[in-house]
Amino acid sequence: MSFGGALLRVEDLRVQFVTDDGVVHAVDGISYGVRQGKTLGIVGESGSGKTVASLTTMGLTRGRSTRVSGAIMFEGQDLLRASGEELRRIRGDQIAMIFQDPLSSLHPYYKVGWQLIEVMRAHRDISKAAAHDRAVELLELVGIPDPQRRVSQYPHEFSGGMRQRAMIAMALANEPKLLIADEPTTALDVTVQAQILALIKDLQQRLRMAVIIITHDLGVVAEIADEIAVMYAGRIVEHASTEEIFRAPQHPYTWGLLKSIPRLDIPRGEELIPIAGRPPSLINRPSGCHFHPRCPYAQPAHSRTDPRLEPVPDQPGHEVACLLAPAVRTRIWGDLQAGRAPAAARELAQTVPAGRGSERPPVVKEGGP
Ligand SMILES: Nc1ncnc2c1ncn2[C@@H]1O[C@H](COP(=O)(O)OP(=O)(O)OP(=O)(O)O)[C@@H](O)[C@H]1O
Ligand code: SF4
Ligand SMILES: [Mg+2]
Repeated sequence: MSFGGALLRVEDLRVQFVTDDGVVHAVDGISYGVRQGKTLGIVGESGSGKTVASLTTMGLTRGRSTRVSGAIMFEGQDLLRASGEELRRIRGDQIAMIFQDPLSSLHPYYKVGWQLIEVMRAHRDISKAAAHDRAVELLELVGIPDPQRRVSQYPHEFSGGMRQRAMIAMALANEPKLLIADEPTTALDVTVQAQILALIKDLQQRLRMAVIIITHDLGVVAEIADEIAVMYAGRIVEHASTEEIFRAPQHPYTWGLLKSIPRLDIPRGEELIPIAGRPPSLINRPSGCHFHPRCPYAQPAHSRTDPRLEPVPDQPGHEVACLLAPAVRTRIWGDLQAGRAPAAARELAQTVPAGRGSERPPVVKEGGP
């Protein structure tokens, strides 16, 4: 996929952690880009490398036991090669992140307003009084009622939803060009979740920011993202416009994620079908296609051949890493959507052309997508 004109361009990024147990392949050769005013959703289960990729963009994974390669181009500069001082200047100013762990953003001992003022004064030559006024404005911008009073309160005096809004205010304090929001709505109830997402979308349109939103839930990015990259075991296994991901998803893992989205039209208790099995070890990754131990459509060859991310025929901008023939994938997805059992999909999978893993009928495991 071409990422020309992107504000941020991540190219073949690899991040490995050397630990006593072995090398953790946290991010394994991913590429993506995001343009000004656009939103990229990065979706995947826990441990797929979503946060590590973003922390690396911010220069926050540097250390003696970390190996990083590739390039992260931001406005013509490779952030992987930027000095610590340059990164500190960019962080919180040009690029801001709403961290997954709220405690790492809001300090419990300092008033919310004071923390906002500090963020501004770290990057701007601005008086305390002006920064205070701007802090009130920011709290108002993110929809915190009575901001004049709230600005002098401590984080524990805020509700969960308000703390999340305060973190967004903090990230926006210096009007960044790129906002990375890592699970910005986890732990919030559904109504507040929807409000926070609407807020991010609204602010993005007003400030023309590029946004990367990280989540394990495809439903969260459905409304807000222009493009979606699906990550599994440190790799991007599918990448397309949001419309394409929902209209014609290609990867069995994406099918699994789609089936685990809550739907209002299905009775409660039946709506969630989690993907069977557990995420793999990133130290000893499965051979071939890393998803094969959990994939209901795996063929014998798929445990030997590692699929590359390749363009999907006739779907410009859509890429997938799966060894099944495109026509077979399309038929299986059609079958799943029609509510037919995986057994029907198995028959379809038997039409896999020679040389693409047709040695024996595919194994369909219980609980597949
Ligand atoms: N400093 C580190 N040292 C060793 N391993 C690490 C380190 N940081 C992250 N990892 C490992 O890298 C992998 C990817 O982690 P990451 O936090 O990016 O996952 P994630 O996709 O954000 O998951 P979640 O949805 O749970 O937030 C995990 O296996 C994690 O244990
Ligand atoms: S390559 Fe095979 S195992 Fe991997 S996702 Fe495709 S069908 Fe499943
Ligand atoms: Mg994470």
